[in-house]
Amino acid sequence: MFKMLRQEISAIMERDPAARSAWEVALCYSGFHAIVMHRLAHGAWKAGWRVSARALSQFNRFVTGIEIHPGASIGDRFFIDHGMGVVIGETAEIGDGVTLYHDVTLGGVAPSVDSDSQRNQKRHPTLEDGVIVGSGAQILGPITVGACARVGANAVVTKNVPAGATVVGIPGRVVASRRARRTEEFSPYGTPLGDVPDPVARAIEGLMEQVSVLQARIEQLETRAKEKSEPVTAGFESPEESSAEPKARSF
Ligand SMILES: CC(C)(COP(=O)(O)OP(=O)(O)OC[C@H]1O[C@@H](n2cnc3c(N)ncnc32)[C@H](O)[C@@H]1OP(=O)(O)O)[C@@H](O)C(=O)NCCC(=O)NCCS
Repeated sequence: MFKMLRQEISAIMERDPAARSAWEVALCYSGFHAIVMHRLAHGAWKAGWRVSARALSQFNRFVTGIEIHPGASIGDRFFIDHGMGVVIGETAEIGDGVTLYHDVTLGGVAPSVDSDSQRNQKRHPTLEDGVIVGSGAQILGPITVGACARVGANAVVTKNVPAGATVVGIPGRVVASRRARRTEEFSPYGTPLGDVPDPVARAIEGLMEQVSVLQARIEQLETRAKEKSEPVTAGFESPEESSAEPKARSF
């Protein structure tokens, strides 16, 4: 328990330039209070004390303005900065070292006419390790935001986000950052420090991000083609064919 408290406090001190001491974090950070209460509520939920867990989660919301369903699973070193207005749904899964700013929703989409059919189904997002989510962002549905990806303030994201990508806008789209960035390093507000690099470096970084998006898309299409047992090479020539004389094609 004490190890967990120490870990959460040091995670906040590492990530918030405004945090000056462990006492300040322990006393004044609603994100810290919310995660401690959530860990207790989640334990109660897993032990089958569903109503007590929900009651504790509601108390947590009343005190901190942060609503985390006790069923949500959250990794180590989680940090909610400012906190007010954050909503995390029951089947959300959050990896280690994730940061959320205020007013973020990890919610569901497409309400079913028959809500029973959605019960016990995965309805909320998965955030992999090191993800940073800007204030007001809405991440909706059972999608995955890849490791160390950044979601811009006020973005609305309803599709998978590749690892390391930056997503902004409504609907969320992948953009290239103007600043040099090492994806594994945390940068406050998701904004890397340092000067804006030269346009060539920026263009290369943009291309790299596009390549990762295209890779994810190809993987998706290959999986879909396999499922339908369609050959993914349809439309392409085999090496033997390509070395042979060109054949007439009819259109
Ligand atoms: C998304 C974010 C992480 C990107 O930071 P960055 O890597 O420094 O990105 P840049 O400033 O180089 O911007 C890249 C492009 O995205 C655009 N962009 C950046 N953030 C955006 C946002 N939230 N919404 C819409 N567009 C955004 C920029 O205008 C730029 O577009 P351009 O290429 O057409 O000029 C950052 O802008 C952000 O929103 N951080 C969250 C901040 C926050 O929540 N603060 C609350 C603290 S209390």
